[in-house]
Amino acid sequence: MMPKRSSDSATEMVQVVLPNDANPLGFILGGTVMHLIDIAGAIACHRHTRSLLVTAAVDDLQFLNSIKVGDLIILRSHVTCVFTTSLEVQVDVYSEETLTGKRQLTSRAFLTFVAIDRDGTRVQVPPLLVETEDEKRVCAEAHRRREERLRRRDMAKG
Ligand SMILES: CC(C)(COP(=O)(O)OP(=O)(O)OC[C@H]1O[C@@H](n2cnc3c(N)ncnc32)[C@H](O)[C@@H]1OP(=O)(O)O)[C@@H](O)C(=O)NCCC(=O)NCCS
Repeated sequence: MMPKRSSDSATEMVQVVLPNDANPLGFILGGTVMHLIDIAGAIACHRHTRSLLVTAAVDDLQFLNSIKVGDLIILRSHVTCVFTTSLEVQVDVYSEETLTGKRQLTSRAFLTFVAIDRDGTRVQVPPLLVETEDEKRVCAEAHRRREERLRRRDMAKG
């Protein structure tokens, strides 16, 4: 399989927050943000693997700032590291005020997807080109997060 760069699959999704997405205070619902994070993460992983995928894990998620109706929600996703049949993707969420352009980071999420075929059998994912010092650091951090989430999964399984 041909190795690919993270930049080959990096994705940006932008949409306007509409009243239907919001709570009575006029802020986007946390569940809507989570849904969009899942989609943005999946798109980058689909672009990397060109396979079917399932979400295996979503790490701890914080909502640092609210996003109000009329603002833009921007989701940027990129693959941080690939393992054997799974890969990790980082999704950064920003709000942007349409009239001023003021932009704020509102969430950062790490998700793990597993590549499968149409029978549900797990398949190997293409390698990720990890070349720069920064890419190596990001991938090393992803390995540490993977160990921790597998530890927590095993605890959850009991
Ligand atoms: C995710 C799933 C495919 C894992 O299958 P499994 O047979 O239990 O898992 P295994 O222990 O054999 O691990 C398979 C791979 O998934 C990874 N994985 C499994 N659970 C994980 C978790 N909670 N967090 C991170 N990685 C995980 C493993 O590290 C392994 O990756 P690798 O091949 O790159 O080393 C399976 O649990 C599943 O189908 N879950 C439901 C997924 C789902 O419905 N998602 C929501 C809708 S898409």
